[in-house]
Amino acid sequence: MLRAQAFVFSLLLGLELPKAKANCNFTESQRHCVCSLEANNFIQCLPATTYELRGGNLEQFAGSSGIKPNSQIIEILEALLVRKLIFSDLIVPEVLVPGSLQFLSYTQVSELEFVNCTFLRATDWSLQGWRDLKVSSLRFHKVTSAPLDDRLNMSRLRRWLETLQNLTVTESQVTSVPCEISKMFTALHLLDVSGNNFQDQTLKSTFCEGVFLQLQILKLHHNNLTSFETVCRTLGHLKMLTHLDLSQNNFQPRVFSSSCTWPHSLHIFNLSSTGLEQIGNSLPPNIEILDLSANNIFTLDFSLPALKELYLSKNRLQTVPSLDRLPSLQVLSLDQNQISQLPSNHLLRLQSLKAGHNLYNCSCSRDIQDLAAKPSLLPDWPQDYTCHSPLNYQGSLVKNAHFSSLRCKALVTRGSIFNLLICLHLVFLFAFSATISGHFLSAILNCWDSSGN
Ligand SMILES: *[C@@H]1O[C@H](CO)[C@@H](O)[C@H](O)[C@H]1NC(C)=O
Ligand SMILES: *[C@@H]1O[C@H](CO)[C@@H](O)[C@H](O)[C@H]1NC(C)=O
Ligand SMILES: *[C@@H]1O[C@H](CO)[C@@H](O)[C@H](O)[C@H]1NC(C)=O
Ligand SMILES: *[C@@H]1O[C@H](CO)[C@@H](O)[C@H](O)[C@H]1NC(C)=O
Ligand SMILES: *[C@@H]1O[C@H](CO)[C@@H](O)[C@H](O)[C@H]1NC(C)=O
Ligand SMILES: *[C@@H]1O[C@H](CO)[C@@H](O)[C@H](O)[C@H]1NC(C)=O
Ligand SMILES: *[C@@H]1O[C@H](CO)[C@@H](O)[C@H](O)[C@H]1NC(C)=O
Repeated sequence: MLRAQAFVFSLLLGLELPKAKANCNFTESQRHCVCSLEANNFIQCLPATTYELRGGNLEQFAGSSGIKPNSQIIEILEALLVRKLIFSDLIVPEVLVPGSLQFLSYTQVSELEFVNCTFLRATDWSLQGWRDLKVSSLRFHKVTSAPLDDRLNMSRLRRWLETLQNLTVTESQVTSVPCEISKMFTALHLLDVSGNNFQDQTLKSTFCEGVFLQLQILKLHHNNLTSFETVCRTLGHLKMLTHLDLSQNNFQPRVFSSSCTWPHSLHIFNLSSTGLEQIGNSLPPNIEILDLSANNIFTLDFSLPALKELYLSKNRLQTVPSLDRLPSLQVLSLDQNQISQLPSNHLLRLQSLKAGHNLYNCSCSRDIQDLAAKPSLLPDWPQDYTCHSPLNYQGSLVKNAHFSSLRCKALVTRGSIFNLLICLHLVFLFAFSATISGHFLSAILNCWDSSGN
């Protein structure tokens, strides 16, 4: 029985049996079996749905690249429960790849991953034809390989690549994908190429006209993109795209012409940590989640009727942007800006507002207190809300700044100041002539009310 399991595992990898002595650990709850090549004791791995081969050098198996599965082996392969196969921390000679893919084609494996692997270049190898692979999700993370140039005739893989749904190639120093290869991924739903070296121009060749038409999720974070507008033009044809992550790139901070339109299908747009100072009216109308955190934004003015979540943490805002043209907004983050006051009439309708670590003026902190009184509105209250002014309250919690009941907004717009002057004038008038009159107090109060509107 033990021997049978080792046999099965080595079969999965297309390795030659006598040499493959795997040491396996099985995690029952996740049905995950991790095996190394070093030792030779085996445990129960057959019920596993995920097999992982971790650590070692597969060069010693390079000689087994020619084995062909016979009918008995094929029967076993077809009966295996494994759905996901992971190769991690390995040195993999390219010559093993075609054989392994051929063995895989008899299994139900739908996810294939290579994590921290180095592919050794083989001068003479080719991909043979094989039955269709059921692998629909392919992931490479931190892999290195020699450039594929013309060693590999990808068109032999076409039938498989045309069915692939998810492709991830992260932190692997990729600079571009040739247009002809991009064209083969006709069914791709998710493409994640984060943490590579894509630049504006190489992105153009990868996303040449007519490719990735089914793409819904595209992650390009942490690359070397610099022009927001070029990226917009390059990706504009992806009419199915709903989720775009461009965070952690280095865009030039200038105002964009609105001549470029992002796909209207876009619902989730991540522009966090991209150096943006302003964002014009070039955003697509159906966005529901927009992340603009960790930029240099100091002013904001857009109309997004469907927007539900807006993240503006770590920017340079001094006032709360107007929410008038964001009628669906529910979640807003404004923490780590330079805001001195929160107008409660704008913000009370939100479900969640994160606004700690700002420069609050506690002379008029009543609005913040009003917001804090609404249950679960401020998740970071009270610990992240400290006074920046007046001086004697600097550093203390806004929660404890009870000395004022004045609302700030009475003092911010010109009309209000004008009203206030009239009020003061009235105070003098009444003080001298109508002190005894019962109307004194109500006149003053009415005056305050109108200056607050
Ligand atoms: C299996 O578990 C043992 C003990 O926890 C550990 O020493 C060994 O490295 C593990 N093997 C693999 C392949 O993870
Ligand atoms: C990556 O794999 C190599 C062996 O190929 C190993 O020596 C190294 O420790 C691995 N790195 C990490 C971060 O696991
Ligand atoms: C592809 O990725 C999406 C989103 O992460 C996931 O929901 C889906 O299950 C994946 N599909 C496959 C075939 O792995
Ligand atoms: C690649 O393979 C296809 C068919 O398998 C063949 O038609 C084509 O000529 C090959 N291309 C090159 C460059 O070898
Ligand atoms: C990013 O691109 C610039 C040229 O556009 C290049 O000088 C720089 O080295 C690139 N950075 C990385 C991390 O590749
Ligand atoms: C946007 O990307 C950043 C960093 O890449 C990540 O931390 C953040 O969670 C993302 N935002 C959303 C809304 O997914
Ligand atoms: C804080 O508010 C008070 C009263 O509303 C105002 O007089 C003062 O100038 C403000 N301080 C700062 C630093 O803006």
